[in-house]
Amino acid sequence: MQLITLDEFIAVNQEKHKDATGELSGLLRDIVLACKIVHRDLSKAGLVDTILGDAEKTNVQGEEVKKLDEFANEILKKCLQNSGECCGIASEEEEDIVCFENRKDAKYVVLFDPLDGSSNIDCVAPVGTIFSVYERISKAGEKCTLEDFLQRGDKQAAAGYVIYGSSTVMVYTTGQGVNGFTLDPSIGEFCLSHPEMKTPEDAKTYSLNQGNYNSFPDDVKDFISHCMEGTTRKPFSLRYIGSMVADFHRNLLKGGIYLYPSTSDSKTGKLRLMYECNPLAFLQEQAGGKATNGAQRILEIQPQKLHQRTPVYIGSKNLVEMLQEKVSQ
Ligand code: AHG
Ligand code: MN
Ligand code: MN
Repeated sequence: MQLITLDEFIAVNQEKHKDATGELSGLLRDIVLACKIVHRDLSKAGLVDTILGDAEKTNVQGEEVKKLDEFANEILKKCLQNSGECCGIASEEEEDIVCFENRKDAKYVVLFDPLDGSSNIDCVAPVGTIFSVYERISKAGEKCTLEDFLQRGDKQAAAGYVIYGSSTVMVYTTGQGVNGFTLDPSIGEFCLSHPEMKTPEDAKTYSLNQGNYNSFPDDVKDFISHCMEGTTRKPFSLRYIGSMVADFHRNLLKGGIYLYPSTSDSKTGKLRLMYECNPLAFLQEQAGGKATNGAQRILEIQPQKLHQRTPVYIGSKNLVEMLQEKVSQ
């Protein structure tokens, strides 16, 4: 089997774009480097007291911060600041955008969820890192602005995630399909393992926190009933890890739909548009699937705030369309 490393793949792909300058390729390599460091430290999380557990504070969204959330955030920030290609970042763990004073000439901004599913760390279940890249709107040479970040998802230049599971896999897109790479820890390289990923159009798996059932909108309850009835009397399978990256990755490979609807406590759901839903929606559409908030394509939502939340229904085309039909009835 021919071994293609992620670096080689990025370089070959860059040659296919006549306008490519190499800046985006360089940026992707820096994100990958940060994720390799997170992978290394996660793998010994149970052994090192400074890694496992709570940081004993809450983030801007009032959620408990784990030491590893902070650690992954710092690593990504450092690697991106060292990269010459990123003029600023936004993160789940930062209240405001962070502009890199020494990188005002750089062309890209990056938004990320440094550690997704972090409540899973202590029990060794899969977690992930999600990222979204935009070309800035403001002039190069000046400090980046909030507008550079608050762009619609369909303007993303690249998006991807790394899942730290039974193996560590990176999946990304630059708008020309989706490719996945598995980390070979013995050589420290991500190698192409899932070329040109396509998600099954139809599936019989649904993923959501069904414990919230009573507070879901009626049309979502209807959809859940449909899943439970299934077809030819066989109910759909419910699979839910509680780590969006992990649930998404499984559904991307095997087919399925991931739902995080609004609840009576949170009319906008739980998940964040800019660094959870948008990047995964970009990947999902590139793989042949769909992503909606029930009323609108996720990628067409005009963001108003950095940490804004949205209901999300994402996955295999036929299942998302069926959900959509129920919502619009
Ligand atoms: P994060 O750890 O980045 O805050 O994200 C957690 C998210 C997402 O990964 C997961 O799918 C969802 O929260 C789970 O929420 P519930 O516990 O409400 O099911
Ligand atoms: Mn998350
Ligand atoms: Mn997170």
